[in-house]
Amino acid sequence: MKATVSVHAKFTIGDVDDRLFGGFIEHIGRCVYDGIYEPGHPEADEDGFRRDVAALVRDLKMPVTRYPGGNFVSGYDWHDTVGPRDRRPVRVDYAWEAMEPNQIGIDEFVKWCRKVNTAPIMAVNLGTGSAKSAQDLVEYCNFPKGSAWSDLRRKNGAEQPHGIKLWCLGNEMDGPWQIGHKTAEEYARIAHESGKMMKMADPSIELIVCGSSARDMPTFATWDARVLEETFDIADYVALHAYFGCREGRASFFASPEALDRQIRGIIAVCDFAAAERKSDRKINLALDEWNVWYRGDTKAHPETRFQAARPINEEIYDMADVIVVGGLMMTMLEHADRLKIGCVAQTVNDIALIMTRPGGGAWKQTTYYPFYYTSRYGRGTVLKTHTESPGYGSKVCSYPVPYVKSVAVRRKDAEEIALFVINRSTEEAAEYTFEMSGFSPDRVVEAVEIYNDDLDAVNTEDCEKVAPSTIPAGAYSLTGSRLQATLKPGSWNMFRIGLRDSQEV
Ligand code: AHR
Repeated sequence: MKATVSVHAKFTIGDVDDRLFGGFIEHIGRCVYDGIYEPGHPEADEDGFRRDVAALVRDLKMPVTRYPGGNFVSGYDWHDTVGPRDRRPVRVDYAWEAMEPNQIGIDEFVKWCRKVNTAPIMAVNLGTGSAKSAQDLVEYCNFPKGSAWSDLRRKNGAEQPHGIKLWCLGNEMDGPWQIGHKTAEEYARIAHESGKMMKMADPSIELIVCGSSARDMPTFATWDARVLEETFDIADYVALHAYFGCREGRASFFASPEALDRQIRGIIAVCDFAAAERKSDRKINLALDEWNVWYRGDTKAHPETRFQAARPINEEIYDMADVIVVGGLMMTMLEHADRLKIGCVAQTVNDIALIMTRPGGGAWKQTTYYPFYYTSRYGRGTVLKTHTESPGYGSKVCSYPVPYVKSVAVRRKDAEEIALFVINRSTEEAAEYTFEMSGFSPDRVVEAVEIYNDDLDAVNTEDCEKVAPSTIPAGAYSLTGSRLQATLKPGSWNMFRIGLRDSQEV
């Protein structure tokens, strides 16, 4: 199979927002307790946070991390989570049928964020919570001093404001499973009032309103349009959530990046319609603040642990096939860099996560850690428009043939390089791949990496890493003038870093 992709230096999609490749830490399963936090573990630091986990997170270069949920946030009372730990109440977390000891609260989470070089995206409870409680939380976190809530923060040890910039107005409020589920009108009303009041406490914050929680929701797009009718003036971003699974065979599963593309395009259309109706040139952008592969991790796993803390639920073990999908989803995110500004992989540790841990034991990288690692490190800069010629295949996901080869090229912002990400979705055939660069003067391949295992079911465990990146041997690719040619293995994820002579224009 042959595939050719062309780019031109002058044809760009947009600059990648730093927040596009962020994480998500929810109070869910073993994400917080026995995940990032395990006092008594040999790797625990003075605050009880696992150093080994923190190091793995830090390496992912996630500039933002969403917190504390997810479904969890809709039953959450932030007041329970601050102050002396021995006085914090133990609550029932009805979202995940677990016990919440409240030993990690807002101040501790902000501390962890500093340790791993990320900034919190804080979600407020608009399920059972109120606009007033959301406003008070902004005051607690961001007001400098001299008010009851800001002084309480200072008394609790944080003299300086936490300075949390991004706030989610609730979570998946369109979902009947959500505690305090609302109609679009009910949600829009409380979101508008909460957002308005939160911006009174700190006018510099940005707000993410809940959009549709999935593309297959019956109210997809309609919900978003109704919510924007009321929140257009206070919303900075509309949230999308997208989870994908291998339910109808690998070919459809590998087409998941196209499904995400359709979903993103749909919500952009809604945002632009809302602006058009108002004759406004305001651009509401998108926040994909939950995304991943998720179809094996069981919400009801280990029923014997119901209503215990740190329940081992949703512990999805990722394989080689998931590498191709996760890598492909990140490419789709890059392709929408002009409107998709924020992304949070759901989640970071243990629960449908990139990183796994064993209580008292090791921390290891799931297979999907690797495409995230490379895309997050090197996929920052300006995304180039690509013209792709590749054979394709039919799927139920979209009406057009899904190209076997998908690639995205980013002109890096911190190096004279193009980072090129490529997946070969054919599981049968290698691809003879050509990448043509116009308007650039490439002079070397700085790095060529593939993630490949001929067994698409291969997984990583604490003791055995079967799916890991390896250097593509020099004989498998060549750079001649402005043309890179490579042989891409069937069912592989690949990255080429192409060095440019000082100035890219020729
Ligand atoms: O990420 C796991 C869960 O998936 C989140 O809590 C919820 O928002 C979504 O349904």
